[in-house]
Amino acid sequence: MATLKLGVLGSGSGSNMQSIVDAIEKGELDAEVKLVLADVPDAKILDRAKKHNIPCQYLDCAPWKTKLEGPAEDECIRLLKEAGCDMVVLAGFMRIVKPKLLAAFPMRVLNIHPALLPAFPGVHSWTQALDYGCKVAGVTVHFVDAGTDSGPIIVQKAVPVLEDDTPETLHARIQVQEHVAYPEALRHLASGKLKVEGRRVRIG
Ligand code: GRF
Repeated sequence: MATLKLGVLGSGSGSNMQSIVDAIEKGELDAEVKLVLADVPDAKILDRAKKHNIPCQYLDCAPWKTKLEGPAEDECIRLLKEAGCDMVVLAGFMRIVKPKLLAAFPMRVLNIHPALLPAFPGVHSWTQALDYGCKVAGVTVHFVDAGTDSGPIIVQKAVPVLEDDTPETLHARIQVQEHVAYPEALRHLASGKLKVEGRRVRIG
């Protein structure tokens, strides 16, 4: 067992980062958040980090709008390494990460996706689930590979889709489970017992 040294990348509210910090502060997760980077200058995730005295900063990812590449990718890797991070946690980071970051942290980049993958990769997946008529939706924490929301799955949690759900009510129900799933996935990694065999992740 070794304390995980996390670098968190986000673009928005940072409620998942908050759930990880809360789990650490309650002694439920053997990890430290070493650095938080956001590609949006006024993202709430930066305010949350500051409240917990976690080093954080804006990362200018221009000229690209949907991916992390080029000088910004190099800078991101440099900052994460300099901060001593050994694991990268994507927490609402609205960009595709490219092979260079993945090679810098092999099998050490995680993402949370608000759907039961492989159903509904990509954006607004809870709306896709609702429009499809699913009776069950959920959340997936997975390793990031070169595809989109396609890496080996660590944890999934399901929630019911109710008849009067709107995209907002369904997303809110999924987010409650996100905040359970991300700390749980990280606990498995911190335990040192997690093994990846092809697509299958074995825990303990
Ligand atoms: C979550 O729904 C997560 O599953 C998705 O982006 C959202 C981020 O929310 N990848 P937050 O910034 O952690 O509150």
